Amino acid sequence: MNKYSRFFFFVMMLFAGNIFAQKKVAGINIDSLLAIMTIEEKAGQMTQIDLGVIAQGDICKLKNPQTLDLAKLDLAISTYHIGSILNVGCGSGTISLENWHSILNTIHSENLHQSRIKIPIIYGIDAIHGANYTMGATLFPQEIGQAATWNPALVEKGYQVTAYETRASGIPWNFSPVLDLGRQPLWSRYFETFGEDVYLSKSMAKVAIRGLEGNDVSSPYQVAACMKHFLGYSMPLSGKDRTPAWISERELREYFLPSFETAIKQGAKTVMINSGEINGTPVHVNYDILTKLLREELGFTGVILTDWEDIYKLVSIHRVAASKKEAVRMAIMAGIDMSMTPNDFEFTKLLVELIKEGSIPMDKIDASVRRILQLKKDLGLFNTTTNSKIDYSLFGSKQHASISYDVASESLTLLKNTNQILPIQNKKERILVCGPAANSLNLLNGAWTHTWQGVDSTYNTPGKLTIYQAIQKNANESSVQYVLGCTIDSVVNIEECISKAQNADKIIICLGETPCTELPGNIDNLALTNAQQLLVKRLQELNKPIILVCCFNRPRIINNLIDKSDAIIYSYLPGDEGGRAIADCIYGIVNPSGKLPFTYPSNVNAITHYDHKASEDLATDFSINAYKPQFDFGFGLSYTSFEYTNFSLSKNTLSSNDSIEVSVTVKNSGNTKGKEVVQLYYTDLVASITPSVKKLMGFSKIELMPKESKEQRFMIHRSDLSFINKDLKRVTENGEFQIMINNQKKTLYVN
Ligand code: BGC
Repeated sequence: MNKYSRFFFFVMMLFAGNIFAQKKVAGINIDSLLAIMTIEEKAGQMTQIDLGVIAQGDICKLKNPQTLDLAKLDLAISTYHIGSILNVGCGSGTISLENWHSILNTIHSENLHQSRIKIPIIYGIDAIHGANYTMGATLFPQEIGQAATWNPALVEKGYQVTAYETRASGIPWNFSPVLDLGRQPLWSRYFETFGEDVYLSKSMAKVAIRGLEGNDVSSPYQVAACMKHFLGYSMPLSGKDRTPAWISERELREYFLPSFETAIKQGAKTVMINSGEINGTPVHVNYDILTKLLREELGFTGVILTDWEDIYKLVSIHRVAASKKEAVRMAIMAGIDMSMTPNDFEFTKLLVELIKEGSIPMDKIDASVRRILQLKKDLGLFNTTTNSKIDYSLFGSKQHASISYDVASESLTLLKNTNQILPIQNKKERILVCGPAANSLNLLNGAWTHTWQGVDSTYNTPGKLTIYQAIQKNANESSVQYVLGCTIDSVVNIEECISKAQNADKIIICLGETPCTELPGNIDNLALTNAQQLLVKRLQELNKPIILVCCFNRPRIINNLIDKSDAIIYSYLPGDEGGRAIADCIYGIVNPSGKLPFTYPSNVNAITHYDHKASEDLATDFSINAYKPQFDFGFGLSYTSFEYTNFSLSKNTLSSNDSIEVSVTVKNSGNTKGKEVVQLYYTDLVASITPSVKKLMGFSKIELMPKESKEQRFMIHRSDLSFINKDLKRVTENGEFQIMINNQKKTLYVN
């Protein structure tokens, strides 16, 4: 058979098998498909364009609501054979379910008509904290708040909902979760991480992937996950987004790799690459990271996607390539499978030229295309026409909202509660609520909420309550007053706050941060804005009980506001149900159980992690107490109290393949039902790489009724005490260790 008769035979087989019908058909044969694809079709599969390229309007100023331009779409399909589309259009906002269906059905049917080989086009979206680009979807706390629950099982439910609602929109691919470790609090995407700790992040990474992909990713309720941004994106030296990172390979492996490793083991289908550079090499051209580490060492078999426009940026920003063509060659040779191009077809054209010239070997291209086709096959995209017959009645439902409420409630972290000022027992107490986050849904949600930066309130879901509205519901409405006081940056009516506060029994000040991410989120200073500081200080002068609620993207410095505040609730960015959760916490319907997933710095330059080295403990007077965070990692109060007793190890020596059991009894010694996070830490006393003063190695969240006790057990294996040595190998060295729970310690010998 020549090339053409092979092709027609194949097309006949497709239709004979009714491959695009709703029912499942026996698997598509990827090798047969590859065999008939032209170079142009292969380059097209490796291209991802933005919705703006195929929609009516200008690229970043689309018609509202977004509407496809059939001529542009047909060009993308028949001339460039594009394999993937993403996003809502830069500068545009969220899309209704109906419009998503219309957009996706049109793409699908045009592809059937215009494409020679009719490979389904895969749509991808940033469903970062829920299906945040679909109107009316359930919005969850951002990842930092999810981590603060220390409750992976609950967090997993949230990812299941996100998968369901994303797929309900017709979209099978989610650019989530962010698995970058949050070690640099200045970074604008800090809130998108699971915090600073390796073990906690690994635990969350696992359930995020499992929640999104499920056991069968082809299910109409699951999506392909995209772990991002591989590797070392979260640690720019300057704290500014996409600026250089200097990270040794040992540290990359010790801190930044494990959450990705876990996600790969969990079956993550795709990965997005770090837009920045590490040690002078942009990750998009780093063969060692993309091919040797990710593919060969970690065995990742899924699709490697660039981040936004990153191949072109190798020329325009990083200047490691003199031309776009050279940049394409470098990125593909380093290991990229698909380019989020996303605003033109230049990548596609250049890739075709490079293949035809022999500058990129065909087997490399075939390997990438094979992986992309496999992803489409795994998602069942070859088998389905539309999702219109599938029941998505739970989209945006009360059931889904209640899961988001639970995640938000369990994330709330009580940092201070002098004289048990909280919870408010008497609903008739007169309350003044003020501050920029008091009456704003956007400040509860942060970026990636209906729009990229999340500032536009046009698309907010009706009926979701702000903190003020939820407090009104919980209290006797007439006793609650609201005055803004200030925006994030400017004083508005602080005097009015002061005058209304005269009649208040308690003052609740809701502090916040303008929703932002990536470059627009860069800041020069972690300090809280002057306007907000002034608001708090002026109200503190009244000597009335003050409750601070902190809805921050990152831990803004509040050291000068703490002493004269009676209670502090750190709420992270708790999402659409955050207002209710916070009000319920204030009135005791929720007993706070969140614990900090990061070390809260006391000063703008005092950024030290809880798992720091002993040398970071040395103070200027040579005493060992330099580590003085505002609040420690893992810290969080409750309305009840817990006692730890009977801490024991089953043995005090651990040899080779052995394991030991750690147990402890935890008692709720107060009068309120509550949840406690039992945290297990260890210290390696002497090691060939300077050991951390302590490291988390296990945790579990338990609920206890008043006076109830539970025994909590953990198993310790030798590998749990391991680290990356100077030869970049994971090892556990023999010697003395300390095992710690709460304030109790036991010695363990490893031999
Ligand atoms: C972000 C990614 C995101 C992509 C697509 C980029 O600017 O860095 O996290 O997935 O845009 O929206």
